[in-house]
Amino acid sequence: MKNKIIEPAIRTHDIKYAVRDIVVLAKQVAKTGKEMLYLNIGDPNLFDFEPPKKIVEATYNAMLKNYNGYAPSSGIQSAVDAIEKEAERKNIKNIHDIFVTTGASEAIDICLTALINNGENVLTPTPGYPLYTAIQSKLQMMENPYYLNEENGWQPDIEDIKEKINEKTKAIILINPNNPTGSVTDEKTLLQIIDLAQEHNLVIFADEIYDKLLMDGKQHISIASLNSDVPVITFGGLSKNYMVPGFRIGWGIVSGNEVILKDYIEAINKLLRARLSANHPEQYAIPMALDGKDEHLKEVLAKLTRRRDMTVEMLNNVPGISCVKPEGAFYAFPKLHMQTPDSQFVAELISETGVVVVPGSGFGQVAGTNHFRVVFLPQEEVLEKAYKSIASFTEKFLERYENVTSK
Ligand SMILES: Cc1ncc(COP(=O)(O)O)c(C=O)c1O
Repeated sequence: MKNKIIEPAIRTHDIKYAVRDIVVLAKQVAKTGKEMLYLNIGDPNLFDFEPPKKIVEATYNAMLKNYNGYAPSSGIQSAVDAIEKEAERKNIKNIHDIFVTTGASEAIDICLTALINNGENVLTPTPGYPLYTAIQSKLQMMENPYYLNEENGWQPDIEDIKEKINEKTKAIILINPNNPTGSVTDEKTLLQIIDLAQEHNLVIFADEIYDKLLMDGKQHISIASLNSDVPVITFGGLSKNYMVPGFRIGWGIVSGNEVILKDYIEAINKLLRARLSANHPEQYAIPMALDGKDEHLKEVLAKLTRRRDMTVEMLNNVPGISCVKPEGAFYAFPKLHMQTPDSQFVAELISETGVVVVPGSGFGQVAGTNHFRVVFLPQEEVLEKAYKSIASFTEKFLERYENVTSK
């Protein structure tokens, strides 16, 4: 038959990635010549952040030395050793495997793929990073979202987690610090999650990609450091802490009871071998980055703290918007106190003001609530302009759709 439409696989039907999807609309608006203010992408290199020179040099030198072939499937030894040392600094004990991947994204994909069968489910933080739901759609898994409680600084809602566990639940994902809320999970909640994981035989997927980007002098606690028996895979990488998301370098650290983890580790390694290796020259950046010094962070955190403070203050001053103070990463997830869907708010915001944010619906949220995600990486002048635009737009929007006048 001629000209028959080529049907894509059903497993792709539900895949959404709001962070990039919104760019289509932003591009259309940009074409009209409007000045755009991008507060939508968590890429530090688009703003005034640069990686430490030594890690770029390490990669360049590796290329010059012609380390341009495939690497071992689990990563080069010096990188694996450096990640192990870093894990020790994070107080993670009982480690049985470490592997380097093409960004934490690939580690997450491989570890979910190696664990979950059709009909099984993984407790997934909501709001949370959309890669997790995209992979689950690809694996044609049932969704099992658990909520973060906005009234409690976006901490995971333990009662909700308890209610959502069923006999097909195999794992729980914890994103700490969280994207999109910037919340940092407290120790009490981490311990409660460990208890539930042990009681119900769950693997904990601990996404700690932002673990060095904590403000107000807060110290990060790795969930794996609190219990050496519970099975945990800790995901990390260079993208955010070291400002090289384009290197595509991440990793997974498997810790916990060796006996129960043995077969799962082998399954992960089969998938690691099948995809040959992660980027090779960039792996030489890992030992240079994870040397325990982290001199670049002082300036990074000073900038992020100033920009976070501005974000919270300016957005909380807008009638119709409230914003929980983020403690880590570079995201805030303000609430829209209105009935109109956040997707409409954001679409009109982009068209009318050129300010690009991502609708809360792209990250999951309690039904009936509306939010948007802000990336506060841009410089203060840009943020100030953007938040002023959001304020005047919100006033008009409330009058237009909600019959609310603040005058
Ligand atoms: C929570 C979270 N995990 C993982 C990733 C992806 O990290 P990588 O660049 O290492 O693939 C991101 C990127 O934004 C993220 O926000």
